[in-house]
Amino acid sequence: MTRLLLAIETSCDETAAAVVDDAYTVRSSVVASQIDLHAAFGGVVPELASRAHVEVITQIVERALDEAGVVGTDLAAVAVTSGPGLVGALLVGIATAKALALGWGVPVVRVNHLEGHLASVYLADRDVPFPQIALLVSGGHCMLTRSTGPGRYELLGETVDDSIGEAYDKVARFLGLGYPGGPVLDRLAAAGEDVLGFPRPMLADGYSFSFSGLKTAVVNHVRADPGFSETEVAASFVAACMDVLCAKLRRALEEFGDPAVAIVGGVAASPILRARAQALADEFGTRLLIPPQSMATDNAAMIGVAAWHVLGASGPSGRAFGPEPDLRLRFG
Ligand code: KG4
Ligand code: ZN
Repeated sequence: MTRLLLAIETSCDETAAAVVDDAYTVRSSVVASQIDLHAAFGGVVPELASRAHVEVITQIVERALDEAGVVGTDLAAVAVTSGPGLVGALLVGIATAKALALGWGVPVVRVNHLEGHLASVYLADRDVPFPQIALLVSGGHCMLTRSTGPGRYELLGETVDDSIGEAYDKVARFLGLGYPGGPVLDRLAAAGEDVLGFPRPMLADGYSFSFSGLKTAVVNHVRADPGFSETEVAASFVAACMDVLCAKLRRALEEFGDPAVAIVGGVAASPILRARAQALADEFGTRLLIPPQSMATDNAAMIGVAAWHVLGASGPSGRAFGPEPDLRLRFG
């Protein structure tokens, strides 16, 4: 018999709930974005995020259950993101998940948000080959891992300063383009040419990344040239980011020759990155694993898939846990 779980995600500025079955079929996925709330500040304001989660979380859970046509007692478990993320935002999801699980008499599964992103590839394709190279590019992270199975990762390298999403968001804020920066910079970049020759940081440095110097180069260019072209700046910035990501991916594919390469995290919503990654995968004859565009940014369906992996590997989590704002992937 098919088993179902409810997954809840509130680590940053999306309040999300989903019902996912044990074959990873998404029965419902509801995401309430707080983008409008934070846009005026050019980034997420933690206190506002927590308050907004509290206001909508029960409605979002109700909608996810309704759309899936289930009630709480049909469920095998309630899964929730325990970290990394904003502590107050995580608290809302965790407290809600524990209370619902207690009421329904079902176990809780605690999920690492990063494992959620890595599991998001199953939302596009259930046949996921291993070993795989995985590039996780989000607002909080930029890391390259090699995975031999769900929950088994080796870290190849990560950013030494800003994540790539953070760089997009900071550049967009500086240009007065609002928050989040990814989609708008991407759109502008598609209409412009890479003519400014911004630096490609740490290209020669193994699998490490750095985006802070690139962001500063953009800021310096804009300050020095008040008549700057937004499309040229966006196209040149995005091209530099893409060249760095693709150079690291190429290095990993050359070193390991794995049958699959996964691109996950909010920046994987970028059509430019999706096209560049596909071209690279084709060149190496490897499979590109990438979530559907709408499931690249934060959602609860990916948390549901990761929860099935956790349940399979180690069972339910017990209820004695709290937010883990600095949670990392477990390597080894
Ligand atoms: O995974 P995510 O939703 O949240 C975190 O876990 O951080 O990623 C959010 C990041 C933001 O920095 C946003 O600017 C970026 O993903 N992003 C994009 C696009 N859509 C969202 N970056 C590039 N192109 C996009 N279309
Ligand atoms: Zn995320």
